[in-house]
Amino acid sequence: PPPALDEVRPGMRVGLGSGRTAEHFVRLLGARARGGFDVTGVPTSERVAALARAEGIRIATLDDEPVLDLVVDGADEIDPQLRLIKGGGGALLREKIVATAAKRMVVVAEAGKLVDTLGAFPLPVEIVPFGAIATQIAIERSLAKIGLDGPMRRRQADGRCYVTDNGNHILDITFGRIPDPGRLARALDAIPGVIEHGLFIGLATVALVAGETGVKRISA
Ligand code: A5P
Repeated sequence: PPPALDEVRPGMRVGLGSGRTAEHFVRLLGARARGGFDVTGVPTSERVAALARAEGIRIATLDDEPVLDLVVDGADEIDPQLRLIKGGGGALLREKIVATAAKRMVVVAEAGKLVDTLGAFPLPVEIVPFGAIATQIAIERSLAKIGLDGPMRRRQADGRCYVTDNGNHILDITFGRIPDPGRLARALDAIPGVIEHGLFIGLATVALVAGETGVKRISA
């Protein structure tokens, strides 16, 4: 079986990640579920919830199943310590809540997502619409204090502000390099109006990275 499916045992409660790679896993899991394999999926976005339903996977909310055995999710960047940037698809808040509720996080990605230092991919920061500009200024000030800056863009979709599944907006910040992701995460966590950011630190336990010669397994 494909390596990610190998992680799933009968009866498990599995967080279902968002994005193309995670959706591929959901389709594989769907085929198994239709074949009688017992699994419960907890989706990280409305989009993957619809897919899982269509695939015939029994789904539950995180309120029904607040402790998960596993989450399988993609990433936008992965560093050698399995720190991640996520949220390119906008689902970072639910993805992080679900990953935190899971005993293990398996990251599925293509080899191009592996980097030495995070930050070339713009970091998604989810902010409350109320006072968004004030929050943006607070972020800039806080970044300056830790010697970071970079262009910030409010994410757009169809000519309007992109709105997340939780009704928030996203700022994409292009740092180029994030020398100390932990420090940046702490700085962002301390700003009122910032709901969450796409730095996933200490969450991934394994990355299954697909390259030309097959799938490489990287453990934290
Ligand atoms: C969704 O919000 C993201 O965190 C995705 O996990 C990430 O963008 C990877 O997506 P792809 O598998 O589509 O590259």
